[in-house]
Amino acid sequence: MIFTVAIDGPAAAGKGTIAKALAAHFGFAHLDTGLLYRATGRRVMDGEAPVAAAENLAADDLARTDLRTGDVGKAASEVAAVPEVRAALLQFQKAFARREGGAVLDGRDIGTVICPKAEVKLFVTASDERRAQRRHRELVQADPSLTVDQVLADLKERDARDAARDAAPMKAADDALLLDTTDLAIDAAVAQAVEAVGKALEQG
Ligand code: DC
Repeated sequence: MIFTVAIDGPAAAGKGTIAKALAAHFGFAHLDTGLLYRATGRRVMDGEAPVAAAENLAADDLARTDLRTGDVGKAASEVAAVPEVRAALLQFQKAFARREGGAVLDGRDIGTVICPKAEVKLFVTASDERRAQRRHRELVQADPSLTVDQVLADLKERDARDAARDAAPMKAADDALLLDTTDLAIDAAVAQAVEAVGKALEQG
């Protein structure tokens, strides 16, 4: 069975949690496409040129444990604006989306560019403040001096760059189901996503 769930939206809206829960529920493979850009950005921080970094990505790069920091997120957002970097990562993502057995991909351009024919498309959002609170909670353990305001400023800068770039900007596909998690507990958001995917599977 070929079946793709495309999940897009800004940073820290809950895409990753929803994607993982859907993959576990339906037995689909999951690809966090942000990791491809983070791993590319990480190599650039070590001095490699952006396009070479994307072309040279290996499984080891994706397994690094230091890809979730704010610095790497910023580097990822910067390399993601380079069309040749996106081109280098395109085929891997397209093949993953159409692999046998079902796939969930989360990112910024999955429903618009990577898999415009995805059987289910979700666009997950939340208010800037709520997203900053969530991301702050994740990052503050590693950096206790970090404030919510700093995280909010970083998120806004990153979202503005991701949405304004010419190459595959972050945007909801016309046929995406919008999920606003500002006042929605994550369990409830997951339940709505499971229902949408279950319905699409039934319709086959
Ligand atoms: O989802 P994330 O925060 O891990 O993504 C890191 C950056 O990578 C994000 O700022 C934009 C970029 N990205 C992208 O341009 N396209 C994707 N499909 C996924 C991520």
